[in-house]
Amino acid sequence: MSQDPLVVFTPSGKRGRFPAGTPVLTAARQLGVDLDSVCGGRGICSKCQVAPSYGEFSKHGVNVAPDALSDWNEVEDRYNRKRGLKPGRRLGCQAQIMRDVVIDVPPESQVHKQVVRKAASVRTMIMDPATKLYFVSVAEPDMHEPTGDLERLAQALKAQWDIPDVTADASLLARLQPMLRKSGFEVTVALHKSHTDDVAQVLEVWPGLHESGLYGLAIDLGSTTVAAHLTDLETGDVVAASGIMNPQIRFGEDLMSRVSYAMMNPGGAQEMTRTVREAIDTLATEIAKEGGIDPALIVETTFVCNPVMHHLLLGIDPVELGQAPFALATSASVAMPARELGLTAINARARSYILPCIAGHVGADAAAVALSEQPGKSEDLVLIVDVGTNAEIILGDTSRVLACSSPTGPAFEGAQISSGQRAATGAIEAIRIDPETKEPRFRVIGCDKWSDEAGFAEETAATGITGICGSGIIEAVAELRMAGLMDDSGLIGSAAQTGTDRCVADGRTNAYLVHDGTAEGGPRITVTQGDVRAIQLAKSALYAGARLLMDERGVDRVDRVVLAGAFGAHISAKHAMVLGMIPDAPLDKVSSAGNAAGTGARIALCNVAARAEIERTVREITKVETAIEPRFQEHFVAANAIPHKTDPFPELGKVAPLPRVSFNTGAQGDDGDGRRRRRRRGA
Ligand code: FES
Repeated sequence: MSQDPLVVFTPSGKRGRFPAGTPVLTAARQLGVDLDSVCGGRGICSKCQVAPSYGEFSKHGVNVAPDALSDWNEVEDRYNRKRGLKPGRRLGCQAQIMRDVVIDVPPESQVHKQVVRKAASVRTMIMDPATKLYFVSVAEPDMHEPTGDLERLAQALKAQWDIPDVTADASLLARLQPMLRKSGFEVTVALHKSHTDDVAQVLEVWPGLHESGLYGLAIDLGSTTVAAHLTDLETGDVVAASGIMNPQIRFGEDLMSRVSYAMMNPGGAQEMTRTVREAIDTLATEIAKEGGIDPALIVETTFVCNPVMHHLLLGIDPVELGQAPFALATSASVAMPARELGLTAINARARSYILPCIAGHVGADAAAVALSEQPGKSEDLVLIVDVGTNAEIILGDTSRVLACSSPTGPAFEGAQISSGQRAATGAIEAIRIDPETKEPRFRVIGCDKWSDEAGFAEETAATGITGICGSGIIEAVAELRMAGLMDDSGLIGSAAQTGTDRCVADGRTNAYLVHDGTAEGGPRITVTQGDVRAIQLAKSALYAGARLLMDERGVDRVDRVVLAGAFGAHISAKHAMVLGMIPDAPLDKVSSAGNAAGTGARIALCNVAARAEIERTVREITKVETAIEPRFQEHFVAANAIPHKTDPFPELGKVAPLPRVSFNTGAQGDDGDGRRRRRRRGA
């Protein structure tokens, strides 16, 4: 008795025998092969394209004859004439298996496409968004079997797509009736299936086959900026990325001042909620325009934000977050209609998903970092630091993950620094000080050349040299230490002590002159003793938070360090370690993850299972509250020295031995070693 033909799918390697005449798409479905289809095999969507291979395949034990698949049929011919099929491709729903065959499923025909992220990262993203398109043929109404249009749509989705149950709101019903009649009862629906609910919601309906795709917005709502990525929900491609300043800044620069504003001003919280929602709505309009897509095609949004932003976005008064025990209204994820968050520019029935918070001070932004970086899957002990005005710190490996936040303040972003500025054209972003001559050279944003290279003056003439940004001030302070111009207590030496006129008297203390642009009408840029103190406070808070987590884990060192956050991407690992921002580790074990919180938001947008994953993960994370932990103060004081008063930095010693100098003559004005703030500021 002759056997049924064998079909082998690549790259999955799945194989099985099917009666001659079985469509490739049917075989693929039965074997669980990832082959896409929006039209349900009607030959109109072209998502099911496959590439049959012919000849001898000893690996699979198959010899594929030229007539292994049925001849091209009319549907394929028509599609090829109208749209063109790539050479060698067939439509899986039309081509039938006649004899043994090997069939390749190209990446673009896979439903769960793997999206390889550009940034160095531990995870690839599998495309499986909560909202997808389904083409259905709906039965026409029948007087003898009276049912509603939605009920017949539900029956069609069940019969043709195996979707057990659907619902739709009144606004969709109003569109459904005319749409069905206009389209001859063939429509494409956007169905939202959450990871917690078996009933799918019809978000949108289009006549016939809808081919313009679906989009989502991943929004990173920070206290300073709001960044959004407009993402194609089929391919995972970022179609447009845009950001705006958070307009809540006018109510207070940092998180605590916004909480205070809410406390002091009746209606203040609502005012801030309204302001940020309007800004997000405007951002959505602009980003859709930039991406050249109809805003009505945006059906999903995900949000990551710190706890205060989280509450203000949701319209919850953040007052409880300003005082112990820092109770969140909810730490769970929130799923809701986007319209209820004031998003009017996008699809009227679009959904929003706000990632869960970890604790009262450790928000959904930290959860998103955990989703992106997956510390719980790390074999070695990894410390992840999301550097912003409020640092989120995560420490963990496969056995346990801990998290805390630490009030670093805005110094790392160039604020509270005498010549500080935001990272913008003209800002000094990198600096080196020659340990022999004590002379500086630097690079400014907008020019690739160093200041001692030919052409630097010409290239920066238009923008000028305007100040020092966050990464610049970190490097400047670390370089002062490496060049022996500043001692381990953070004291800058005088000209007499250091032998360079670059060290200038500044009141009772000294400052280091980086650049004097006064002759050209520019600023005189110095690093003052006050600047060093501000950086010391920030870095001590960061280090103390990390140490606290290490104490909880009972370790004195970590295997690797990941610097996350847009700012983290610009920090030099060596300088951060000289400063003692991060614990000692081999320099090649310090990496940057870029905007990991934003990436986490995109992952949650593109993969619905990731939402369940992060909800599970945050429940398993041990939360450490720095504000009530007495050891935080001890760690903070010890971390004030550069790099540290007591902790040895052996790895750092191998690459950057630090000169032993002391400038404390008793006459210098030191404004208080170990002074500390308890401020909460947001990224
Ligand atoms: Fe749509 Fe084949 S499944 S064309």
